[in-house]
Amino acid sequence: MPDVPKLSDLKILFVDDEANVLSSLRRLTIDEEFETLTANSGAEGLSVLETEENIGLIVSDQRMPQMSGAEFLARAREQAPDVPRIVLTGYADIEAAMAAINEGGACRYIKKPWDNDELLQIVRGELERYRLLLENRHLQKVIEEKNEQLAAWNANLKKRVLEQTAEIRQKNELLADQNSGLKWALRGTIEALSTLVEQRDPKASGHANNVAAISEAMARALDLPDEEVETIVDAALLHDIGKVALPQPLLGKTQDDLAGDDLARYMRHPVLGQLAIDKIERLRPAGLLVRHHHEWFDGGGGPDRFAGEKIPLGARIIALADGIDHHLSGRSDLASIKAALRKVEDQLGSRFDPYLFRFVRQPVVEHYGQMVCSGDRVGAILKPPELRPGMVLAENLASGSGLMLLKEGTVLEKKHLDSIMRYHMIDPFPGGITVLVDQLD
Ligand SMILES: [Fe+2]
Ligand SMILES: [Fe+2]
Repeated sequence: MPDVPKLSDLKILFVDDEANVLSSLRRLTIDEEFETLTANSGAEGLSVLETEENIGLIVSDQRMPQMSGAEFLARAREQAPDVPRIVLTGYADIEAAMAAINEGGACRYIKKPWDNDELLQIVRGELERYRLLLENRHLQKVIEEKNEQLAAWNANLKKRVLEQTAEIRQKNELLADQNSGLKWALRGTIEALSTLVEQRDPKASGHANNVAAISEAMARALDLPDEEVETIVDAALLHDIGKVALPQPLLGKTQDDLAGDDLARYMRHPVLGQLAIDKIERLRPAGLLVRHHHEWFDGGGGPDRFAGEKIPLGARIIALADGIDHHLSGRSDLASIKAALRKVEDQLGSRFDPYLFRFVRQPVVEHYGQMVCSGDRVGAILKPPELRPGMVLAENLASGSGLMLLKEGTVLEKKHLDSIMRYHMIDPFPGGITVLVDQLD
């Protein structure tokens, strides 16, 4: 039988001890789609139930010898609990019919003598009801199976998503590794290129690296995003690459040393620099900073005579770092550092961005301080708890709100350290205290 039986697959079982009743029931249902089975006693009815499949309705006479209809239906219910049961009974047997309903689980009774049409209608209806019950059960089972499949798919999907996520993560890590490998390779190339100018002009030795270190520290102090910091460092390393095209006599000069045609030729190096790296797409943003590193904050520079914030921030940072390194020209003692800082301070607003000056001081002291040979004294910016007796103040010490406390050159003793700590609690020193130490840690 298919999952859901058709009406023609079902059978009806009539049980009656009177042969003529059974034959009239057979006649009545002869043209029906369903098959008709008969039994002439309860016992026979039970054995039919045992041997035949797809019985969809049992109709039993109530009054039968040996086994009553109620008893037969009760036992039939044990064998086929879902098959609907109807009891046939005479007018006088209504009570017995009720017993068949109560004990035998009959769903209804039909009075003898029956009306043929009514009886046919009832059995068709009951068979259809039974068929619908099977169909419902089948659908329920299908839904449960689909739900189980769905749950299995979901679990599988989750597993596949996790597997794919892990795979994607691995690929991303691989790409990130390759990317950082490429970045390193490119940085190596940039550093190699940056030394080209220094090979032609020994005076420029270390210049690109110094400008890059100061620019990077300033960009980080300004909290710029990593990508922008990288661009600034690339540009700082390459800012003077255009000088390789300058004639030898112009190398080692600054724009302040030149005039006329020489100055005009010298001032082409930012554009030549940009052109030199323009073919490397990844370096184009850096190329733009290279182009503008000689613009002046007041618009007096070149090549485009940009002013103020129209000059890219990275180019303004590089210009300041460049200015400091040119003023230092290889020196790195604290006095020279201070003098260089003073010189650029004098040009704030004209040549350099005044806002950026506050971010250059510490990087300059730290960067050039680290370059001093062992044994020399250098400036270090320390926090009050890092101060030790014997250190010398590199500049006048004022409290956070500007109250003068100690003079430049004071050799710190324990009493000084105690009072510095006390002042620091009350009126903290902004940005640390510059002292002379033998060597930076
Ligand atoms: Fe330059
Ligand atoms: Fe430069």
